Amino acid sequence: MRHIWVINGPNLNMLGQREPDKYGDQDLESIELQIEQKAQDLDVGCTFFQSNIEGELVGAIQDASESDGVILNAGAYTHYSIAIRDAISAIKAPVVEVHISNVFAREDFRQVSMIAAVCRGTISGFGVMGYILALTALAS
Ligand code: DQA
Repeated sequence: MRHIWVINGPNLNMLGQREPDKYGDQDLESIELQIEQKAQDLDVGCTFFQSNIEGELVGAIQDASESDGVILNAGAYTHYSIAIRDAISAIKAPVVEVHISNVFAREDFRQVSMIAAVCRGTISGFGVMGYILALTALAS
């Protein structure tokens, strides 16, 4: 069975409470459940990981190296973490960058991604559906 990792970075554990006008009202647990259901339909196994700590995210990306793909919402680290960029470059698995909000329609600093160039692709602005779109892309 193919296997993918779903990795969420800082403050995404606060989804549902955090700025719902930008990120919606669903919490991370309910989003992970929807991803899990879609993964079952696609016959794909999933490992979920969330951390607010940059080094733990680097470790999780490394751990996902032999998997069939990574869905990564690196949160604010997207915009300045060379360590996360290097971890993506270091692994074998393709990584899809996901953002719930449309980062290109927000502040200037959010329009810069340190990781986009080393990801297979980027999905931004489709709300939590972005995770499902990324899963569908990786599964195909
Ligand atoms: C985010 C966008 C980032 O700029 C922000 O720091 C986040 C969430 C998104 O999913 O839209 O934490 O990655």
